[in-house]
Amino acid sequence: MKSKIIHAPDLSKAASRRKEQTVFDILKSEHLASLTEMVKGWFYYIKTYGCQANVRDEETMRGMLEGIGCQPTEDAQKADIIIVNTCAVRENAEDKVYGEIGNIKYLRKTKPNLVLALCGCMVEQPEILDRVVKTFPEINLFFGTHEIPNLYDLLFEAMMSRERIINVESKPGEVVEELPVSRLNRFKAFVNIIYGCDKFCTYCIVPYTRGKERSRKFEEVIKECQDLVNQGYQEITLLGQNVNAYGKDLPDKKDFADMLEAVAKLGIPRLRFTTSHPWDFSEKMIDVIAKYPNIMKSIHLPVQSGSDEILRKMGRRYNREHYLNLVKSMREKIPGLTLSTDIIVGFPDETEEQFLETLSLVDVVKYESAFTFIYSPRKGTPAARMVDNVSKEIKTKRFLELIKHLEVSIEDSSKKMIGHSYDLLVDGVSKTDANMLSGYTDGNKLVHFSGDESMTGKIIKVRITESHTYSLIGEIVNGQD
Ligand code: SAH
Ligand code: SF4
Ligand code: F3S
Repeated sequence: MKSKIIHAPDLSKAASRRKEQTVFDILKSEHLASLTEMVKGWFYYIKTYGCQANVRDEETMRGMLEGIGCQPTEDAQKADIIIVNTCAVRENAEDKVYGEIGNIKYLRKTKPNLVLALCGCMVEQPEILDRVVKTFPEINLFFGTHEIPNLYDLLFEAMMSRERIINVESKPGEVVEELPVSRLNRFKAFVNIIYGCDKFCTYCIVPYTRGKERSRKFEEVIKECQDLVNQGYQEITLLGQNVNAYGKDLPDKKDFADMLEAVAKLGIPRLRFTTSHPWDFSEKMIDVIAKYPNIMKSIHLPVQSGSDEILRKMGRRYNREHYLNLVKSMREKIPGLTLSTDIIVGFPDETEEQFLETLSLVDVVKYESAFTFIYSPRKGTPAARMVDNVSKEIKTKRFLELIKHLEVSIEDSSKKMIGHSYDLLVDGVSKTDANMLSGYTDGNKLVHFSGDESMTGKIIKVRITESHTYSLIGEIVNGQD
């Protein structure tokens, strides 16, 4: 089958940050009525990889598909529309996607009218897109992260055309409001406040796949959050690649602290946010977090490295001292705060000494949880062109050593919780033990306990009885209604 290329990705265009104002738009489609007729009785299946931005994108696509009468299915074989929503942040994220397509591509033979689509961050990279287009002739629709609001027209085109449709336009991106949403969780919700990223950390592909930083209008975010409160949601997580940059591109001078405060005042029982960039974290934000009990005392603050030289090469815009001062101020002003982080080991030419600085930072900060990664070169990023004389073996050794150091403070913080009681938002049956329920504390610690499934979606109090490195065991505190 031939391919019809409407737009092809282009990394230099993706990197451009034109200064013009963000364009605000709403959903429109030329083909809504005919498409609704064409998909009568259809099922859809979406498989999402990557970060919460991708999960929230899936929820928009679900909302759009259900808006034209399609029903969700967990069984790809039953589906008439299959969408694989991809991540490109590290090589192993990509490998998972190749595995998934390998598993489902045979369905094309059983269902000639199947729409098999690939979207998300992987297709935004020209070479990857080229490779998947060539390797998987079964896929008949490719669309980029900016194209989600056009899903109806894309589906229509893919269904009407004899050709494979490729529409991946590299551009700064718009903010499109009033998109439908079908949420994956009925008591915890993600709300985007800012899209894209302008930081261009030298190792990272995200600014190329997600476009420029563009904030949603203050009142649109408040409207979405108010709706969630009205529907009885228990937890909102405000989302952005860099939430603290919120508002910098808006004329009304509202910043992330103003946003947090306004959402907290709506009365949502739990408010979280992710991800924070240390460079944009102000004292005003810390003060707001400290002031409102319903803002969870848990901050994800990626450090990436403890070495000033590596931080400089990464383009992170802060140094070790700045980061440690920020942590100090947070810990002083926010009692009971838990801190989590992201760390990359094996950045190009990282010396043993530089790595030891990361270990010593980890020992000083005493994180309550952490995500650790071995550096993965991303084509098109500046770091991918840097000389790297560090062997794979050394990188793996450092990675394991880092985890050992992190586990000391993680275990320690868990142990200190034994005997104390914490509020828990119950997620439901535990993923690791079908006889237990599980949920997260304010500080984002995972607790398993035995209880009735009807507690799902409620906030209850548990006393911690046992601690493991990455989870805790608790019991319900009696006397709760
Ligand atoms: N916007 C967020 C999340 C970015 S991706 C932030 O700035 O923190 C999540 C994490 O993936 C990053 O924090 C970083 O630790 C890691 N990461 C990104 N690119 C990577 C790469 N090329 N190799 C290894 N880890 C990477
Ligand atoms: Fe990537 Fe850095 Fe932006 Fe985070 S802040 S998304 S690590 S470029
Ligand atoms: Fe992955 Fe794209 Fe998120 S690269 S981490 S899905 S922004």
